Amino acid sequence: MKTAFELNGKSISLEIEPRETLAEVLRARCWLTGVKLSCEAQVCGSCTVLVDGLPVSACTYLAYEVRDKRVTTIEGLADSAGRLHPLQQAFLDHFAFQCGFCTPGMILAAKSLLDQNAHASDEEIIAYMSGNLCRCTGYLAILKAIRQAAVELQGHPKEKWPQS
Ligand code: FES
Ligand code: FES
Repeated sequence: MKTAFELNGKSISLEIEPRETLAEVLRARCWLTGVKLSCEAQVCGSCTVLVDGLPVSACTYLAYEVRDKRVTTIEGLADSAGRLHPLQQAFLDHFAFQCGFCTPGMILAAKSLLDQNAHASDEEIIAYMSGNLCRCTGYLAILKAIRQAAVELQGHPKEKWPQS
């Protein structure tokens, strides 16, 4: 079936199978391998992408459901000049990853949170991020990175960064 949607700010139209998941389509047809697959059961959050600005588990979300919607993956987060999004930079600054497998999903979930709640408290950050699991870094550095990005984003005009 033909499915048209916006992917990282660009219109795209693909012929897909109704049974294909969004993760399969993004990885195998669009070559966006920042979408990571682990549990494939909507438990770990590593496959998180944004659909109309909200996080979804791409491993179980059927691809045709993004018809006429906006999809954002980690590859779409830097600005048009290639500068990293403040969340990406903050994860680097705080060494908030080790193997990096969970990181794209973490950053996209955090972006959705800060877009909705720029002044999120630590408790709110922890609660919102509870669906994203990390097996190797520990969560304190991740929390610090999200805090730093929240502060930085408050000083930036929102339109500077691609909208999810
Ligand atoms: S791979 Fe999708 S939630 Fe784990
Ligand atoms: S950095 Fe390895 S799973 Fe999170």
